Amino acid sequence: MFQIRSEVPSDGAAIETLNDLGFGAERRGRTVYRLRLGAPTLGFIAADPESDQPLATLRFWPVMAGLDRPALLLGPLAVLPERRGQGLGRALVGHGLTIARDRGWRLCLVSGDPDYYRPYGFEPAGPYGFAMPGPITAGHLQVKALAADALDSLPRGGTLRVLPWRGHRGSDADGDAVVTRRRLRVG
Ligand SMILES: CC(C)(COP(=O)(O)OP(=O)(O)OC[C@H]1O[C@@H](n2cnc3c(N)ncnc32)[C@H](O)[C@@H]1OP(=O)(O)O)[C@@H](O)C(=O)NCCC(=O)NCCS
Repeated sequence: MFQIRSEVPSDGAAIETLNDLGFGAERRGRTVYRLRLGAPTLGFIAADPESDQPLATLRFWPVMAGLDRPALLLGPLAVLPERRGQGLGRALVGHGLTIARDRGWRLCLVSGDPDYYRPYGFEPAGPYGFAMPGPITAGHLQVKALAADALDSLPRGGTLRVLPWRGHRGSDADGDAVVTRRRLRVG
């Protein structure tokens, strides 16, 4: 049994522990961490229904694809080792994508195992031109349209460099305000 809820500031230490268990302490050296600056836009917990202790964590970070396409970066997703294979990951990803869509996000990117993310509708991002700011395992960068036409409207034949939101130097002068408005208020 578990229940899904938004993360709150007091979950912080438990989230770090879950991610260390899932990815190892050296995880911050991975390319995706170059994109996880500041605070996550969305964060969800699968919690023990009695103790409310976090059993699994999923966060989403705002990024900019190319000069002017806001997107969410899914991850990290980590489930307590002894609670894996019980649907917690599936419940968190399904819930998170629904909330992201409800809040108006049009694109979601993830760097992860295609076998795990394909069932949620993710597909290889390379053919659309998306490129990460560093090395990642071939085929691991994937994208999912949260709005029906989000992938149809991408420029053809270009490169959409994925940048952290704060590193974005494009022309969207009110970009920070957009993120603030969309950021999940917790606590
Ligand atoms: C990967 C992880 C998040 C899966 O969470 P989970 O709660 O055990 O997964 P679920 O029980 O919700 O399984 C959902 C589906 O994914 C499949 N699955 C689970 N782990 C998988 C993996 N590593 N690769 C591919 N598919 C996987 C399950 O078989 C299940 O398939 P089904 O719907 O056909 O039965 C969890 O094992 C974990 O925390 N691993 C360490 C960190 C990690 O690798 N995070 C993901 C980065 S890609």
